[in-house]
Parts: sequence; C-alpha cells; structure tokens
Amino acid sequence: MHGSIFAFLKRFVESTYDYSTWMKIMDTTGIRRTGYQMQEMYPTQELVKIVGAISALSGKTPHQVQEQFGTFLVPDLLMIYKKYLKPDWSTYDMLLHAEDHMHSAVRKNDTRTSPPRLSVSKVSAKLLVIDYYSERRMASVGIGIVKGIAAYFNEAEEVTVTPMTNPDAVRVQLRVEFA
Ligand code: HEM
Repeated sequence: MHGSIFAFLKRFVESTYDYSTWMKIMDTTGIRRTGYQMQEMYPTQELVKIVGAISALSGKTPHQVQEQFGTFLVPDLLMIYKKYLKPDWSTYDMLLHAEDHMHSAVRKNDTRTSPPRLSVSKVSAKLLVIDYYSERRMASVGIGIVKGIAAYFNEAEEVTVTPMTNPDAVRVQLRVEFA
C-alpha cells in the first residue's frame, strides 16, 4: 500500500494518542522502521498489525479503529488530490466520482498502487450505494472515508453510511443516505 497512507496512520496515532504510543506500537508489532516515506510502498500487513495494536491499547474494535482512521485521512487525501476535485462538488458528487476521478487518478499517478474498486450507484437524489471490492478487506476504512468526506463538506449531520453486508468481506455494499 502507498506510503502516504502509512505516513498518515503515524500522524493519526501521534495526534489521537502521542509519539510514545507510536513507539510502543512499533515495539509490540515488531515493525523495525524509523518512519514511512510518502513515495514508497509498504506491505498492507503492517497496517493490519498497527490497527490491531491500536485496538488492543484503546479497547476499540479493529472496525472502529479503521473507521476513525478513514475519517482522519480525508483532509490530507483531498489536499494531495485536490486538482481532481471540482469546486462545486458536495458529498454526493464526490462519492459519485470517487472511482473515476480519485482512485483512477491514484492508479494512474503510481502504477504500484491498487486502491479498492468502487462501483457507485445512484439510486435516488437521497441514496447512493457503494460496492467496495478489495482483497485487503478494509471496507471499514471506507466507511470512515465517507464520513470524513461528509465532514469535509459540512454535511456530517445529513449523511448516514451503513454496511449492508459483512464489512470484513472482499466485496462489501455500503448504503449512503442523505437527509
Ligand atoms: C475522495 C477521494 C479519495 C481519494 C483521494 C482516495 C485515495 C486513496 C489512496 C491513495 C489509497 C491507497 C491505495 C494504495 O496504496 O493502493 C486509497 C485506499 C483506499 N480507499 Fe480511497 N480515496 C478516496 C475515496 C474513497 C472512498 C469514497 C472510499 C469509500 C469506500 C475509499 C476507500 C478506500 C479504502 C477502504 C482504501 C484502503 C485500501 C483497500 O481497501 O484496498 N476511498 N484511497
């Protein structure tokens, strides 16, 4: 997985907890790195281990940690990829174009990446269904990203996201409702 995601994960731990918590996590997971570089690639398994360690020390479930991390990621991700964003977009449009504008740009910019395949269906003006597909099984990060996008557009109160199928699966359906 792309180094940016790991660099933001480190930032997430440092800002939610502190630097010594990050050092403790490196210790308990046995990951021997001084840091993560934005332009490198790292094994997804390291992310899974770090999420597991955060879960153990915080008492949150791995799903809750993934989700919280996904929400935390959004401002930084949108900063990096803002040239693919249209200024008049809201949460609804952003989600509708997450695959064709954002993940496809991620793949094109760096062919080593493999963001999940998102198939977003417009059911009505108040309902989108996102079909997530990734061998990494991280749909809970996606739930957090959707919530983070809603917060970014000041629509957190109006947007509800619910997994309709098992969030640990390779293929997961997310229902996104707009009040
Ligand atoms: C809106 C702008 C978005 C940007 C700029 C973005 C960007 C990225 C990037 C750079 C990665 C790392 C890919 C890799 O290293 O292979 C990633 C992974 C991921 N993205 Fe997005 N993404 C966006 C929207 C979304 C949305 C709406 C979802 C909702 C389902 C989502 C779900 C995920 C998940 C769950 C991963 C973790 C890897 C995996 O599950 O395979 N993303 N994204």
